[in-house]
Amino acid sequence: MFSFSAAVVLSALLSTVLSTPLVVSVEVAALRLDPTQVDRLSTLSDDTQYVYDFFNPTTGIVSGAAGHTVTATSGTFPAVVGNGVAMTIGFLGPCAMNSPHTHPRAAEINFSVNGTLRTGMLAENGARFVVNELPPGSMTVFPQGAIHFEMNTGCDVAMFVAAFNGEDPGVLQMAQRFMGLPVDILQATLGGLGVVEVEGLAKMIPDNIVAGTDECLQRCGLTRPTQPTSQQQPRVSGNAYA
Ligand SMILES: *[C@@H]1O[C@H](CO)[C@@H](O)[C@H](O)[C@H]1NC(C)=O
Ligand SMILES: *[C@@H]1O[C@H](CO)[C@@H](O)[C@H](O)[C@H]1NC(C)=O
Repeated sequence: MFSFSAAVVLSALLSTVLSTPLVVSVEVAALRLDPTQVDRLSTLSDDTQYVYDFFNPTTGIVSGAAGHTVTATSGTFPAVVGNGVAMTIGFLGPCAMNSPHTHPRAAEINFSVNGTLRTGMLAENGARFVVNELPPGSMTVFPQGAIHFEMNTGCDVAMFVAAFNGEDPGVLQMAQRFMGLPVDILQATLGGLGVVEVEGLAKMIPDNIVAGTDECLQRCGLTRPTQPTSQQQPRVSGNAYA
């Protein structure tokens, strides 16, 4: 097929001169043009293109002071294209929390490998709050779009495996996005809270993975670390501080 051979040639040519994200874009574009899975298998002609190493990733890493996650989606691992699946592996330090977030385009199943995780979930307006402890070997489900969080309640590093029923699940971190809205809109939404309080709150929000609750930190003999704040919503003219 034209799309297949053109894509393979293009991908091979461009991968010698382009950065990794552009190579991924070219591969994903080629895979999306392929009419069948048989064609996709030819487009990704190297067997190793079907393996993603979460322990030695080069892309898809999100880090905070308390841990990190590694994500294999169509944006980092083109082999998922056409298969409707993606995966995130998390490494949560002692008391670390993946702060409240949603996945706008996929449901998630989340398996605790070797730590105990406290999870909470709010699916939508009117829904009851669901909370659980996930001991090692257990799994929970977060419906598409539900606000959820997970905290490692232990004093050792814990690993989790999150699988998605979509190749581009997306993630929307609640605090980082909400507190990045225009300050006057936040003031109004928060019942008339002062501008100093709103800006003060907005500037405190740490990068994910964040340090968890005071109770856990105290129990594990830890103090809350200084946390970077580079994941906050950028301020442009529409949401600028006055
Ligand atoms: C999976 O659950 C763990 C523990 O509950 C949590 O830290 C993590 O954020 C969840 N993963 C995702 C991608 O939501
Ligand atoms: C859980 O597994 C991760 C990844 O292998 C490891 O770094 C961590 O130390 C383990 N934690 C425990 C409590 O065994």
